[in-house]
Amino acid sequence: MRILSGIQPSGALHLGNYFGMMKPAIELQQQGEAYYFIADYHSMTSLFEPAERRQNTLSVALDFLACGLDPKKSVFFRQSDVPEVTELTWLLGTVTPMGLLERATSYKDKIAKGISPNFGLFAYPVLMAADILVYDSNVVPVGQDQKQHVEITRDIAIKFNELYGEVFVIPEPQIRAAVAKVPGIDGEKMSKSYGNAIEIFGDEKMIRKKVMSIKMDSRTPEERKPDADQNLAIQLLKLVAAPEQARNYEERLRAGGLGYGDLKKALFEQHWNHFAAARARRAELAANLDHVNGVLADGAAKARVLAQKVLKRAKVASGLK
Ligand code: TRP
Repeated sequence: MRILSGIQPSGALHLGNYFGMMKPAIELQQQGEAYYFIADYHSMTSLFEPAERRQNTLSVALDFLACGLDPKKSVFFRQSDVPEVTELTWLLGTVTPMGLLERATSYKDKIAKGISPNFGLFAYPVLMAADILVYDSNVVPVGQDQKQHVEITRDIAIKFNELYGEVFVIPEPQIRAAVAKVPGIDGEKMSKSYGNAIEIFGDEKMIRKKVMSIKMDSRTPEERKPDADQNLAIQLLKLVAAPEQARNYEERLRAGGLGYGDLKKALFEQHWNHFAAARARRAELAANLDHVNGVLADGAAKARVLAQKVLKRAKVASGLK
């Protein structure tokens, strides 16, 4: 079974990214042949700072490797290192009805937010279809927000196959079970764009400051808190601490006597310890960029062999070859 997913290079990893996407992706390595790439072509539809793209791409690569992506098990690469994907995008685009793309909710949402659309943004799902189809992927683990894009991919693949013969494997989306929503410091869903995120590999002072600014209410430490499970620090503690420890804090908060300051200090400590090993690995990797670039180059070389094979199939079937 071939598993494939793309990760947008969108900046420093936060707890929401980690528990929502990265950890499940890393665990999936055990279940099949995983292909994971950094979607730098996609980032071009909305990010126009070269230095930032370069920096974010490196940063995602470091994050993934530090958190346990194993290049011996998985194929890990940069999307743009496999240019076959852009060529396939053209072939697929010619069988993609305009209406299919006009109905894409992620496109409509972005326009509604005031983003002025470029051709790339409109064609985003076709590029994504090429990403998926060019590796004969069977399973595509994505968040709910990307489900429609995988359905569009299926429609495009079916259309191409009907026209030109059995060229593409039809992929299945695998929607990640909504991990207990990871709240940000204001209680909204944690997201970089809301400015409420707690980073994973940020500098110690900054993370501590973020944790200490998690929103609490004005009840005194002594008061009982029957709603302790709703407390934001408790919810985050359940992610980063051992279960008994998180339960222990929750009970102390419920019973009264535990102050919010002390609770947040404990959360900071647990966060810091939870990622200690990954932080050390990340520092090692950051000091050895030749190794990191080598991993990405090896991944791209492997991915390209497959991409060339599938692209050729599509070109022969459609009469280009
Ligand atoms: N669009 C996806 C996202 O924003 C990233 C992505 C690009 C992707 N190509 C893909 C995901 C192919 C799965 C398969 O999260």
